[in-house]
Amino acid sequence: MSLKILSGSSNCGLAEKIAKSLRIELIQRILERFPDGELHVEIQESVRGSDVYLIQSTSPPVDEHLFELFLLADACRRAGATHLTAVIPYFGYARQDRRSRGREPVSTRLVADLIIASGLERVVVVDFHGHAVESAFTIPVEHVSAVSILAEAVRPSVDKDAVIVSPDLGAVKMAERYAKLLDLSVAIVHKSRISGAEVSVQRIVGDVRGKEVLVVDDIISTGGTIEKSIKSLLDAGCSPSGVKVLASHALLVGPAAERLGKLPIEKIYVSDSVPAPERFPVPLQVSSLGSLLAETIQHLYRRESLGDVLVRE
Ligand code: R5P
Repeated sequence: MSLKILSGSSNCGLAEKIAKSLRIELIQRILERFPDGELHVEIQESVRGSDVYLIQSTSPPVDEHLFELFLLADACRRAGATHLTAVIPYFGYARQDRRSRGREPVSTRLVADLIIASGLERVVVVDFHGHAVESAFTIPVEHVSAVSILAEAVRPSVDKDAVIVSPDLGAVKMAERYAKLLDLSVAIVHKSRISGAEVSVQRIVGDVRGKEVLVVDDIISTGGTIEKSIKSLLDAGCSPSGVKVLASHALLVGPAAERLGKLPIEKIYVSDSVPAPERFPVPLQVSSLGSLLAETIQHLYRRESLGDVLVRE
């Protein structure tokens, strides 16, 4: 059975890197809009009998990228692909995994259902927001991580007494993984969310006085979480120099540039799960997920164990 890689439009650069690592060409496809705005997709080579991996981050514009994923998957299924896996480096809608205020949908679950309905039989996700993502699916979810890649990127510039900071309770497990890899201690910021773009900080658990801080999170969206965390860490007496931020997914939308540009951040370390903005007021160091995702695909294609690749927590 042949291995084929198909890319949506969300992150062609990363898809090219994955294909290059696997020494194959991306499948040619057409993605176009009809005059009425409907999306039309067409696969331009045979996928019959193939093991197809569809690369698509469901990053902004989230709904457009999701719909591309559905149509590309349906096209592959109807064209006779034997196996169909979605590689979703950034999985959108992961944060809407419950009804927190009442008359709301459980969007994570609905998106999972739609992905399954489009014919996909397995998904690969990088640093999903929470385990609710895996629970939402009735098909296998392979969870891989950018943490070790970003830890290696930051390692040469980390002080030996630096502290890894989790900006909320949800990122504690991730902070512990960074701390283990870099042999550092962990502090936790106690955050609550006021709205989609606003958060407030209650207190910091752990000693940061005089220390360099590395704030780690799965996602930077509007930058509100990182902004409030860094402000409260500075108030708590952390070293104002050497402040670093590490995040798997750099959405950097809305007021992110304005918020983060005002802070004494030395550098933000991110993956290429989402294409980085061309200009940003804080230095961004982007590490590619290309080799990790190529290795994951290779293991899946060969039906080999993913033991060394998957996140265990
Ligand atoms: C939420 O729990 C996530 O882990 C991130 O902290 C959050 O999504 C970041 O969003 P923003 O940058 O808009 O605060």
